[in-house]
Amino acid sequence: MRHKPKFCNATKKSVVILISGRGSNMQALLEADLPCCRFAAVISNKADAPGLVIAERHGIATQVVAHRDYPDRESFDAALAAAIDRHQPDIIVLAGFMRILTPGFVAHYQGRLINIHPSLLPAYGGLDTHERALKDGIKIHGCTVHFVTSDLDHGPIIIQAAVPVRADDTPETLAARVLREEHRIYPQTLRWFCEGHLSLDADGKVLLNRYKQTGHTLISPGLE
Ligand code: GRF
Repeated sequence: MRHKPKFCNATKKSVVILISGRGSNMQALLEADLPCCRFAAVISNKADAPGLVIAERHGIATQVVAHRDYPDRESFDAALAAAIDRHQPDIIVLAGFMRILTPGFVAHYQGRLINIHPSLLPAYGGLDTHERALKDGIKIHGCTVHFVTSDLDHGPIIIQAAVPVRADDTPETLAARVLREEHRIYPQTLRWFCEGHLSLDADGKVLLNRYKQTGHTLISPGLE
């Protein structure tokens, strides 16, 4: 059975979520059973991000730090960090946040900045992951949650979920299959972090002291 406490026996951890758009991963986090997490704010770099409306509906404080208002990455990241640090978060969650962050920003949040990416990293970092996966004819695709380092989409991996690629898949059908798994593994990651089971050590290694291995092999297409 899934580990799902109704109450938090530890000190709650404060969470800031960064978004740029739809916000379905953010929504999955806000609606998950995460008693040890306190959502302090959702910050978007785009004023018209639909996810902002969802956050407001959940009673979460929202803020826009528009990248277009700043002349360069450094000044935007400084403003973004100031907005984040006002909440003194224990963890910053990138949920479809579509900006490349400067090394200084990433270093400031080392060990408390996580991202979700729609591929099985280290394969298919960057954009258009589903289109590229289909073009290559791979049979198993998926998603990854990782700690963020200045090496784009290549930080220490926390959890991955794999899905089969079907012969008749389009980028849209494959994206939908992967997204369903994103909505499962991101809440799990945050649960681990907020309950104090997940951290990054000084050598950049993921430390996870509570997890379950199901032991299943995923083969796609299936064996006869
Ligand atoms: C997700 O596929 C996520 O993996 C990627 O951007 C997409 C964001 O979707 N980083 P949403 O805004 O969470 O719906």
